[in-house]
Amino acid sequence: MYIGTTLTNYIIETQRNLPEATGEFTGLLNDISVACKRISDLVNKGGLIGMLGSADSENVQGETQKQLDVVSNDVFIEALAHNGHIAGLVTEEMEDVYHLPKGAPRGRYLILADPLDGSSNIDVNISVGTIFSILKAPDDVEDPRTEDFLRPGTEQIAAGYCLYGPSTTMVFTTRGHGVQMFTLDKDFGEFILTRKDVQIPQETQEFAINVSNSRFWEPPVKRYIDACLAGKEGEIGKDFNMRWVASMVAEVHRILTRGGIFMYPIDEKTKAKGQRGRLRLMYEANPMSMIVEQAGGLSNTGRKRILDIQPEEIHERAPVILGSKQEVERVIQFHQEA
Ligand code: AHG
Ligand code: MN
Ligand code: MN
Ligand code: MN
Repeated sequence: MYIGTTLTNYIIETQRNLPEATGEFTGLLNDISVACKRISDLVNKGGLIGMLGSADSENVQGETQKQLDVVSNDVFIEALAHNGHIAGLVTEEMEDVYHLPKGAPRGRYLILADPLDGSSNIDVNISVGTIFSILKAPDDVEDPRTEDFLRPGTEQIAAGYCLYGPSTTMVFTTRGHGVQMFTLDKDFGEFILTRKDVQIPQETQEFAINVSNSRFWEPPVKRYIDACLAGKEGEIGKDFNMRWVASMVAEVHRILTRGGIFMYPIDEKTKAKGQRGRLRLMYEANPMSMIVEQAGGLSNTGRKRILDIQPEEIHERAPVILGSKQEVERVIQFHQEA
């Protein structure tokens, strides 16, 4: 595939190499790209269309929804529910599985999505994104139920995100086919391949973590961040730089571009609420872990590979430590030594 080709072309080409490929997968990716173009447009217009600020509602996780959380969720459903490429849909903003309307054509894929990631950044004009994970629906299931979605991340067929930043960038992987980056040419209305077979540098001197939670961290995470902060004089023996955007999509994009380690670990604060970390396994941690691993990085909870977790609930959370191989390995080692 050549730099400058369109996302559509890329998908058609990839599909040729996928087992039991049909035009349905191309159709599904096309639906997702349409949803992302719409969300990109809404996010760009921001204050011009009165879409900033909170909605009058909470989602199932007890977060106050932003107006754009709600609208992005609607855009996602609208783009996917009527075209016969999916069998069911799960998103951050809906308590239960979304069932397709009666009589709507059905496809073979399940999709899980975070329609707007980093939405606390929307009112302050900082990058946000959309994350998606694609599974195959079990054969012979007409209307998938919750259990049908509860599959480990290793079973994802494809995963991706779209970053709404200074430019709109779609990053996408199918199992075994590496990670590709496409930039939206708004005049043209197409995503154009701008980076092929992205590989995360194995070494890094940049970490990302919300340090305001440090008093709640477990000892191995404390030890690691202390070592980063101590720089050359610390046990890692090199100086570090720090970033925290508070949009996972933006952090993962930075790591894919120039390396880094991102952590939202399990801590006492989330444990007290009966949760394991902050990020949601099925539509944040899993798709991002697949992308990171396909790009030569690692993704782990500190104790376990994220993609191997057997989910029990669609909205369950997972500790996330991902990025450049050498540093993620170091954090895993610190966990083993604790
Ligand atoms: P969302 O906006 O979809 O609810 O996700 C926000 C997530 C993630 O993008 C980010 O890394 C993290 O929350 C930020 O959390 P803090 O506000 O605790 O820093
Ligand atoms: Mn949210
Ligand atoms: Mn999110
Ligand atoms: Mn979200």
